[in-house]
Amino acid sequence: MTNYRDILRRLALGNEVGFRELEELVALVGDERVLDYVRGLAREVRTEWFGNKVFIRGLVEISNRCSGGCYYCGLRAENCKVTRYELSDDEVMESCRVGYGLGLRSFVLQGGERKSITEQTARVVRRIKEEMPDVAVTLSLGEQSRETYECWRMAGADRYLLRHESATPEHYATLHPERMVWEERVACLGVLAELGYQIGAGFMVGTPGQTTAMLAHEVEFLAEMAPQMVGIGPFIPQSDTPLGNMPRGSVEQTLMMLSLVRIALPKALMPSTTALATTAEQGTHLGILSGANVVMPNITPAQYRASYAIYDGKKSSGTEAAEGLEKLVRELRAIGYEATFGRGDHPDFQR
Ligand code: 5AD
Repeated sequence: MTNYRDILRRLALGNEVGFRELEELVALVGDERVLDYVRGLAREVRTEWFGNKVFIRGLVEISNRCSGGCYYCGLRAENCKVTRYELSDDEVMESCRVGYGLGLRSFVLQGGERKSITEQTARVVRRIKEEMPDVAVTLSLGEQSRETYECWRMAGADRYLLRHESATPEHYATLHPERMVWEERVACLGVLAELGYQIGAGFMVGTPGQTTAMLAHEVEFLAEMAPQMVGIGPFIPQSDTPLGNMPRGSVEQTLMMLSLVRIALPKALMPSTTALATTAEQGTHLGILSGANVVMPNITPAQYRASYAIYDGKKSSGTEAAEGLEKLVRELRAIGYEATFGRGDHPDFQR
């Protein structure tokens, strides 16, 4: 029997953990006692830095137009069944104003990847920062040139989310068309970090062909890169994509991975993802109770939400109405956590 407690202790202390040991740990997901222990330790570790705080960020899905071709994602350029939309600057502003009125001070503008959005995005970031100087703005708009990232940073963007999707280049290649290159994606994260962004990486659990060795490698890779944010959610098939008939990722394996990455990166901001909420009853709570410390309610204008269908059945844990947010706060309190509406910077980026 693997001495999993000893491996976890070393992982938490940043001490040497062998790859085989990590792999064995990842594979112990089927043992309920082990999973409970790992999740408990993850909660302990997050409490050291964050107490019982959970950061709430308003998510605005600004456009579903995308030139990418990710085999798992419903927004891929090749999918012609999607009704494409793009919010106007005023609609983005209005979404943020509503969020601001509800007390939110952290917004995430997420959308498909396109090369043509440099100027308009800079403009809207500037407007948000001018009107609401006390908010943090996170962008999540795919791979862009250094110049574009620089332009957005100058406009006031604080953070950038760009999941690496897989730490294994060969696996990445099975999930993306040839025009998408693993090395380029990872290089983007390096550029973003250089430019002073708080960076967010991440991956899906249960993508077709993913092995326990690959999952162990995710932990190593993230521990080494040490991004400020990490998004981890289960793969969910989207019927209009090449991977539409593949099985979804397991909830337990997702929780195990969330917890292991939390233990390896005690200070990271880690969302309990919508994909998890979509896959499991009480998924948001399960994520929080596995070491996640961020929830990102959707504040996109309601009429666009169904069109942002990256996977089937996507929940849009809705909050344009104050009730949605109040309910979230209440539910978090019921499991012992305190929702916080501030900027929610990484501890190393506190000003
Ligand atoms: N299932 C789960 N997550 C997905 N994403 C995209 N498509 C899917 C899917 N079918 C995730 C990717 C992407 C993020 C925005 O959403 O990891 O980076």
